[in-house]
Amino acid sequence: MVKIEPFAVEQWMDRYETVATYNIAETCCDSISLTDLSLLSSSDSGEDKFQESLNKLLKRTLGYGHIRGSPEFRENVTKLYSSSSLMGKLPVDNVLITPGAIAANFLLLYTLVGPGDHVICMYPTYQQLYAVPESLGAEVELWKLKEENGFTADLDELEKLIRPANEDGTGGTKLIIINNPNNPIGNFLPSEALHKIVNLAKISGNIPILSDEVYRPLFHSLDTSTHPPSIIDIYDHGIATGSMSKAFSLAGLRVGWVAARQHGVIDACASARDYNTISVSQLDDTMATYALSPNIVSKILERNVALCNTNLKILDDFITRVPEISDGKFNASYIKPTAGTTAFVKFESKDGEIVDDKRFCEELLERKGIMFLPGGVCFGHGEEFVGYFRIGYCCGTQVLKAGLKGVREFLKGEF
Ligand SMILES: Cc1ncc(COP(=O)(O)O)c(C=O)c1O
Repeated sequence: MVKIEPFAVEQWMDRYETVATYNIAETCCDSISLTDLSLLSSSDSGEDKFQESLNKLLKRTLGYGHIRGSPEFRENVTKLYSSSSLMGKLPVDNVLITPGAIAANFLLLYTLVGPGDHVICMYPTYQQLYAVPESLGAEVELWKLKEENGFTADLDELEKLIRPANEDGTGGTKLIIINNPNNPIGNFLPSEALHKIVNLAKISGNIPILSDEVYRPLFHSLDTSTHPPSIIDIYDHGIATGSMSKAFSLAGLRVGWVAARQHGVIDACASARDYNTISVSQLDDTMATYALSPNIVSKILERNVALCNTNLKILDDFITRVPEISDGKFNASYIKPTAGTTAFVKFESKDGEIVDDKRFCEELLERKGIMFLPGGVCFGHGEEFVGYFRIGYCCGTQVLKAGLKGVREFLKGEF
């Protein structure tokens, strides 16, 4: 039997997210309904494209549909990547649709990693990215983003971790895993760092790089023209995973994807996927195709980038005022997010004592109905990140405001 660590973050979410009154731990940009989606389409031409998609769906027989995902959906996914990169436009067949990025990551790891393989994974990140390869018998080394470096990537450190292959091509690092933008830190790897990582992977024998890009393109601190590239637009052994959940506010459509320049990777994943998926729901596929159609996707992203920026100002104001708000009882510090939907905040008592994140979260929920995520429980390996909290600040602005008001009262001891 495969042994795998409990997935702490998902278990915490499962236990508390439906009972919390103010969920400010969630990582999706405030989710939208199909009605919201339909309203985005009262388009310039006056044509109701949403109704058109819906009508087609109502008439379609509900067989399995396209096994790898409909060509229309996959085509729209290819448009999320650059067509002007040296590698050209991504072919439709280089995209495989999966039930969420979580299934895309799992499938890739299951396909690419085996017992004894050396795998490097950026840390902190979504636990799946290092726990699954560990469960498959790989030797996983964590490439740590360190607080003292502002949680930025240390390329010298990565270089030390990479094992070059032997002359016969065996024995080297099998896979490098990054998460860009990063959950929980809320930062991203800038273009220069990405190119350096690719260079290290190339000179060490074209090591594949799996980049979990589920928060892409939420680079809300940047202009669109300065977004860093996807891994698959700068490296032909790069593999990207993504989904409708975070940047597109549609996690309830359980669809995501694997995109890769090497067609063999897609075929290998498709072959493994035959054993556990067959196809995704045609309803999900159709609605996701619609949401990623050119006019609509730009409206969703415009809404969500504005939401991230508005809410980040509110959060930032709160964080800087924690000593005042708590009558001097607490300090809070963080690296202000530049991308994604999460902030990783450290709370300390006024005399520098670490806060028990688990107890704090449980009490906050019990007394005020507010949900934070305890960093030590959900992102820590051993004692790491005790006293940290992941805040998902891209929920509805009113939820964030009301939630932070409750936290303020909690910090003052007003229950
Ligand atoms: C980094 C990362 N990858 C993947 C996922 C899974 O997302 P989904 O399966 O909804 O696409 C999450 C969800 O929180 C995540 O944070």
